[in-house]
Amino acid sequence: HTASSLIVGNWKMNGTSASAATLIGEILDGAAALPPSVALVICPPFTLLDRVGRMIEGSVVRLGAQDCRAEPKGAYTGDVAAPMLADLGVHYVILGHSERRRDHFETDAQIRAKAEAALACGLTPIICIGETAEERDAGDAFLRLSAQIAGAVPAGFGADSAGGVIAYEPVWAIGTGRTASREDIESTTAHIRQALAAHLGTDDNLPQILYGGSVTARDAASILSIGTVNGVLVGGASLSADSFLGIAAGA
Ligand code: G3H
Repeated sequence: HTASSLIVGNWKMNGTSASAATLIGEILDGAAALPPSVALVICPPFTLLDRVGRMIEGSVVRLGAQDCRAEPKGAYTGDVAAPMLADLGVHYVILGHSERRRDHFETDAQIRAKAEAALACGLTPIICIGETAEERDAGDAFLRLSAQIAGAVPAGFGADSAGGVIAYEPVWAIGTGRTASREDIESTTAHIRQALAAHLGTDDNLPQILYGGSVTARDAASILSIGTVNGVLVGGASLSADSFLGIAAGA
C-alpha cells in the first residue's frame, strides 16, 4: 500500500489521567518509527482531550473527539459543541458511531447536522455507517449503507478543505472479535465508494473510507491493502500501545 493511511484509535469510555499518560507516552515513542504516510489519530473521551492534546503537541499524532452537538452553544446540559472542540486543538470528530445510534437514538439527519457543524469550524468529521447482522443476513446491507449515506453525509462532503471521512463499521463486528472477511470489506467498501459518488454527484475528492470492527495487528495489513480502504477505526486494540502501533505498522 503506497497511499497514505489513517489509523484512528477510539478509546470510547476508557481512560484516566494516569492511564492516558502511559499510553500516549508509549504511542509517541513508537510513532517516531512510522513512515510519514501513516497518520495517527487518538480519540480519547472528552475528559482527557485537553490532557492528551497537550501531550501530543508538536508530534505527528492528531486529536479527535467522539461526538459533538450540532448547535454551536446554548442550553444543552451535558453536551459539547464543535467550536469547543476546535478551541481545544481537536482535528477530527467521530459522528454517528453505532453505540451512539443505539444508546442515544441518533438519526442520520442529526448526524448530518453534526457533520455540518463540525466542518463549519474546520473539524474533519468521521461519519460512521454500518449494517446490523439481521440486515446483512437479509441481504439488505448495501441498501442500508446507501440509505445511511443519503441521510447522514452532507453535500460536498470530502471536498471541503477539512476533508471528510466515512467509517464502515458492521455492527456485528464491533467489539465482538468477529472481523469482517477481507472479501466482505472489499466488496462493501467498493459499494460505499459508488454510493458516495452517486450521492455527492462526483468522483473527485471523495471522502476517505475506513474499516472498523475488531481490527487487530494480525489482520490490519491485509485490510489496509484493500484499494478502497484508506485506514482503520480501532476500538479495543487502541487501548494498548503494542497493538495500536502493530496495526499502524501494517499500513
Ligand atoms: O470505533 C471503533 C469501533 O467501534 C471498533 O471497535 O475495535 O473494539 O471492535 P472494536
